[in-house]
Amino acid sequence: MKLNKMGKIISGIVVFVVLIAFSFWYGKEKIFSPPAPELNTPAIAQMKDKLCVEEAAYMRTDHMKLLSAWRDSVTREGNRLYTAQSGNVYKMSLSGTCLQCHSNKEQFCDRCHNSLAVKPNCFSCHAIPEVKK
Ligand code: HEC
Ligand code: HEC
Ligand code: HEC
Repeated sequence: MKLNKMGKIISGIVVFVVLIAFSFWYGKEKIFSPPAPELNTPAIAQMKDKLCVEEAAYMRTDHMKLLSAWRDSVTREGNRLYTAQSGNVYKMSLSGTCLQCHSNKEQFCDRCHNSLAVKPNCFSCHAIPEVKK
C-alpha cells in the first residue's frame, strides 16, 4: 500500500519535470526562430552587392548596439559619418540610412520585433519615411 503511494508520487514528479523541461525547450525554439528577413525593397533591389552596413550576422545580433553608437556619435560628438569595415561611408541616421534601404519597416523591423516582443520606442521621435510606391 505504502509502496504504491510512493510510486504515484514519483511518477507525478517525473511528469512534472518532463513538462517543465519541455516548456523551456519549446520556448527556446520560439525565441531563436525569428521570421525570415523580408529584403525586397526598391533600394535593395537596385544594389549590385546586396550588403548591409556591416555583415548580416553582426547586424542580426548587434544592430541595436550599432544604432546606439551612431546616436552617441551624432548627439555627443557631432560626427555624422560612419566608416564601415568594408570602407564604405554611411550617414549615421536611423530614418535617413537604415530605413532608406529597409523601407519596408513593418515587414522587416516590426515583424521580427513583434515575434520576439521587442518594442523599440525610437519612432515616437524619429520619422518613418513614407514608402515610395
Ligand atoms: C525623445 C525623442 C527621441 C527618442 C525616443 C529617440 N531619439 Fe534618437 N534622436 C533624437 C534627437 C533629437 C536626435 C538628434 C537629431 C539630429 O541631430 O539629427 C537623435 C539622433 C539619433 C541618431 C542619429 C541621427 C539620425 O538621424 O538618426 C540615431 C542613430 C538615433 N537617434 C537613434 C535612436 C534609436 C535607435 C532610438 C530608439 C532606441 C532613438 N534614437 C530614440 C531623439 C530621440
Ligand atoms: C545600403 C542598404 C542598407 C542599409 C543602409 C542598411 N541595410 Fe540592413 N541590410 C541590407 C541588406 C541588403 C541586408 C541583407 C544582407 C545579407 O543577407 O547579407 C541587410 C540585413 C540586415 C539585417 C539582418 C537581417 C537578417 O535577419 O538576416 C538587419 C538586422 C539589418 N539589416 C538592419 C539594419 C539597420 C538597423 C540599419 C541601419 C543601422 C541597416 N540595416 C542599414 C541593406 C541595408
Ligand atoms: C532578425 C530580427 C530583427 C530584425 C530584422 C530587426 N531587429 Fe531590431 N532587434 C531585434 C532583437 C532580437 C532586439 C532585442 C535585443 C535585446 O533585447 O537585446 C532588437 C532590438 C532593437 C533595438 C533596441 C530596442 C531597445 O529598446 O533597446 C532597436 C533600436 C532596433 N532593434 C532597431 C531595428 C530597426 C530599425 C530594424 C529595421 C531596420 C530592426 N531593428 C530589425 C531583432 C531584429
